[in-house]
Amino acid sequence: SELIALEEEFSPYIDITASPTQRVGAPPLEKFGTAHHLSPMLSLSNAFNSEDIIEFDERIKRFLDTDKNVSFVVEPKLDGIAVNLVYEKGIFTRGTTRGDGEIGEDITENLRTIPSIPLKIKEMRTPAPERIEIRGEVYIGADAFKTLNKRRTREGDAPFANPRNAAAGSLRQLDSRITARRPLEIFFYAVGTAEGISFDTQWNTLQTLSQWGFAVNPHVGQAEDIDRCIRYYQEMEIERKELPYEIDGTVIKVDSVALQNRLGAVSRSPRWAIACKFSPHQTTTLIKNITVQVGRTGVLTPVAEMDPVAIGGVTVSHATLHNQDEIDKKDIRVGDTVVVQRAGDVIPQVVKVIISKRTGNEKKFAMPEICPSCRSAVTRFEGEAAHRCINMDCPAQIREHIKHFVSRGAMDIEGLGEKLINQMCDSNIIGNPADLYFLTKSSITGLERMGDKSAANLLSAIEESKSPPLSKFIFALGMRHVGEHTAKVLAGKFTTLENLMHASKEDIADIKGIGPAVAESITRFFSEGSNLKVIENLSKAGVKPVEEDREDSAPLSGKTFVFTGTLENYTRSAAKALVESRGGIVSSSISKNTDYVVTGSSPGSKLRKAQDLGVSVLNEEHFSEVIG
Ligand code: IVH
Repeated sequence: SELIALEEEFSPYIDITASPTQRVGAPPLEKFGTAHHLSPMLSLSNAFNSEDIIEFDERIKRFLDTDKNVSFVVEPKLDGIAVNLVYEKGIFTRGTTRGDGEIGEDITENLRTIPSIPLKIKEMRTPAPERIEIRGEVYIGADAFKTLNKRRTREGDAPFANPRNAAAGSLRQLDSRITARRPLEIFFYAVGTAEGISFDTQWNTLQTLSQWGFAVNPHVGQAEDIDRCIRYYQEMEIERKELPYEIDGTVIKVDSVALQNRLGAVSRSPRWAIACKFSPHQTTTLIKNITVQVGRTGVLTPVAEMDPVAIGGVTVSHATLHNQDEIDKKDIRVGDTVVVQRAGDVIPQVVKVIISKRTGNEKKFAMPEICPSCRSAVTRFEGEAAHRCINMDCPAQIREHIKHFVSRGAMDIEGLGEKLINQMCDSNIIGNPADLYFLTKSSITGLERMGDKSAANLLSAIEESKSPPLSKFIFALGMRHVGEHTAKVLAGKFTTLENLMHASKEDIADIKGIGPAVAESITRFFSEGSNLKVIENLSKAGVKPVEEDREDSAPLSGKTFVFTGTLENYTRSAAKALVESRGGIVSSSISKNTDYVVTGSSPGSKLRKAQDLGVSVLNEEHFSEVIG
């Protein structure tokens, strides 16, 4: 306060651009604006082992038509949130998230609060250019993450799953004064558009950034050839455990900017850089118990409760075991010592049992015959892996159903979290989604931690959700097999809820990409009296989905895809089905008519052919984006 007063007093005479008073946070925003990046923010294709890295080098040499070694810069791949900062005449003017690579969210006020982001470029040797985009990764360090989560637990807030989520959540605060209290840090690794300056190498870029006062990771290095890059990748995988922040791989970049420009980009990844991913963090722990959770559609999911262990800086104590078949296949028993990993370094997974650790006291698991929530009979339908509770009034299902209804992709009611829904269900204030729209201030102010202000906010968030796009409303209804994509297709085809409700099974099954099982599930849903009652009540309360334009239900209509290598998250047949359901065609061989080649790990010769033919190559992440 003293400093603010001084600055005001002497305001005509001093420059406060870089003063600490500029970092305390500004009044909350209603919502974030968006901004176009001056140059797109590309992503990186992945390598998973040294063979992939060698292929990357060979590809570059083929493209450049040279046998000479290309030199590289090697960097840790920081596992945080990418941001783009614009400096004009040396002054930080705007900061955005990556967004879709072209347009990001304007989070300037939040970024301003991060102490390691220069508010003004330090002009030591190199003067600040006219305008420049500087890119880096915002992260939260391991120790700070632990402290933050401890504080959250103490204050009754849900802890973050991992440092990356914590960083993302902190950056998305509309109130930058909250961001200011989060221990965010940043490392910088690239420039986008630069006006009034040019860089000849990546190494020089990093050096200049560092002189200008931008934190560059201390583990970056120069590599005279690809073998050095591979050694770096192997060394960093060991070093990783000692680092006070999370990295999920290394990045190799061609050093020369002239060569980078010659190499260019395919689809949204540059040919001149690659991310070398580490294998997932693994460790061992003990399964203390296997409990069963009931989901929205009544599916019973077994969950392993384990001795808490740290995997890559995050404490893990639960992992889904999916279903009985999965447990039988891996022969997982209560009391077993198991290998656990975080898949994609996020979701905990039981990889396998260490049989040699068995003592003979381990207990096999069997799905309960009655639902743990409502105690009605559990069924397993022919051909399904899941056991289900089919009681529509099962309290656990109702809760999950309401949670789904209000979630982001559905009605998107802000401030209505899991805890609050549980509380409202427990005290019988709500029993179905329509009840939300009949809540009054007096019915909710009695709830735990619900003051006048929060009650008013909640009611206005509910009110605001009354005109959702039809597709979101259909998704929110939570019909089996109707995910966001199918909901969009249905909304595009039928344009109103009434049309959909009156459609026959055949009408629905006729839609490209929607099979008989989905059609069956939809008509069954609309023939159920209790569902119709909820829809009627929603309508009485004034919930009125907004009609959607008839849209092309086949976004990939006519596009040809070829797959090569192993995908991490899709089987080949699932990937094929996804493409086809969107009107695309999957072919087994590449020609110049191929639109996309999708590569997984260890891709075959098709990748080379694609590159030679100039066909767009998608990694798995891009593929997910393309199919939406
Ligand atoms: S360079 C064209 N360097 O990885 C290259 N990215 O999949 C643009 N990342 O969105 C990125 N550490 O969030 C680069 N040393 C590093 C990085 C890095 C982490 C992230 C970044 C980017 C993603 C690419």
